[in-house]
Amino acid sequence: MKHTKVKDLLNSTNTIDEVSVKGWVRTFRNNQFIALNDGSVIHNIQCVVDFENTPEETLKRITTGAAVAIKGSLVESQGKGQKYEIKVSQVEILGDSDAEKFPMQPKKHSLEFLRENAHLRTRTNLFGAIMRVRSVLSFAIHQYFQEKGFVYVNTPIITGSDAEGAGEMFKVTALPFDKTPRTEEGKVDYKEDFFGKETNLTVSGQLEAETYAMSLGQVYTFGPTFRAENSNTSRHLAEFWMVEPEVAFNDLDANMDLAEDFIQYVIKYAMERCEDDLKFLDERLAAEEKQKPQNERSGMGLLEKLQFVLENNFKRVSYTEAIDILKNSKPNKNKKFNYIIEEWGADLQSEHERYLVEKHFKSPVILFDYPAKIKAFYMRLNDDNKTVRAMDILFPGIGEIVGGSQREERLDILQQKIAELGIDEEELWWYLDTRRFGTAVHSGFGLGFERLVLFVTGMSNIRDVIPFPRTPQNAEF
Ligand code: 4AD
Ligand code: MG
Repeated sequence: MKHTKVKDLLNSTNTIDEVSVKGWVRTFRNNQFIALNDGSVIHNIQCVVDFENTPEETLKRITTGAAVAIKGSLVESQGKGQKYEIKVSQVEILGDSDAEKFPMQPKKHSLEFLRENAHLRTRTNLFGAIMRVRSVLSFAIHQYFQEKGFVYVNTPIITGSDAEGAGEMFKVTALPFDKTPRTEEGKVDYKEDFFGKETNLTVSGQLEAETYAMSLGQVYTFGPTFRAENSNTSRHLAEFWMVEPEVAFNDLDANMDLAEDFIQYVIKYAMERCEDDLKFLDERLAAEEKQKPQNERSGMGLLEKLQFVLENNFKRVSYTEAIDILKNSKPNKNKKFNYIIEEWGADLQSEHERYLVEKHFKSPVILFDYPAKIKAFYMRLNDDNKTVRAMDILFPGIGEIVGGSQREERLDILQQKIAELGIDEEELWWYLDTRRFGTAVHSGFGLGFERLVLFVTGMSNIRDVIPFPRTPQNAEF
């Protein structure tokens, strides 16, 4: 007999004489009530064991964490809290779990403890919910772009270029550390290496995606990216997933429209399909907020926040306006910011971004037209010669969730910029070809997938929304 998922049993519209279900025991009460979960849904199904007719040996093995197969009938529940339960006729222990040693005890564990047990944490309601929401959001991303006719491009993970020019890359090499081949000048001789040149893990698929946009029109990438920045924060991972659409003939305004529509679509998609999980996460966040002092509470519940994003346009504000607001803000005047904004040109820190979003505008914000000096080489220079057509989308509680721009499509200006920054033009010959042959206005952006999952789940640490986080000094599992 094929086993049925707990989700389908709980959604059943009628009782069923014979059912089979498999899962893991969450709790076993009074030698009688098994709360069984199989990961298909946040709820457990209650399985009522006829303990008088079940061998003592078997009852002893029904422990938290054990894998069991249960046969019985789906009946209307006598107790409160559930519509249906299973009247058990047979319990088979598939895999024992030593109740004393199993780390996921039926009690509240700290998130830190759960991170240390990332291989078992999806046995909890919280991590089951987070990872189901993450999965649905991934699918929503593909759904959105596929519906709109975008082509999904798999850009390389090992690259020979530094897309962001930030130099925060992990080297990929097959050279031995003890006998590194050297050139006559004493430098590492990458000609001897696997690829015959220096290579890294990609920080972004953008440059390759641009070449595809300039032939297929609308494309997107969705894959892992890597950054060796030593940022031990609740918003940074060394390995994270990025969604990068790139569209030929889109200017910055069209890019902003796309980003806003896309984010609203995927949030709505998750709200429609993850109702139970989001309700659970909403309640969790509310309980968490209650522990905080009044002035640190966010004021809005999770579901309320998500609804707010769906119903309100993102505020579009130029960098110059934002600097004025920040310069005149209370925390700046009272020296409450760690980095005081003195003048135009300053790079914005997350404290500034969060001030704009959470205190000033109280809504998602798209900042655009940043100083060229603080942005990447490929962004389109404005006529003022000092700002570029960049945009960052800032979200409450998250800060930057999207970074993007209109790209510099003019070959001469791009070459000049590359030279000024001391980037080797030879390295980018293929990228520059897009400007040599049929160049056109085009734009794109990158959305940090984990930051989106953070926002939608209401979690506050990025390590809790990716299965096995990679951060400085941590690559367990
Ligand atoms: O702003 P970033 O660096 O932009 C790019 O890489 C562009 N090439 C994207 C493009 O235009 N196609 O990164 C984009 C987004 C950020 O807004 C942030 O959400 C996320 O990626 N991000 C990170 N997420 C987690 N951990 C990190 N270390 C991240 N660095 C960036
Ligand atoms: Mg950025």
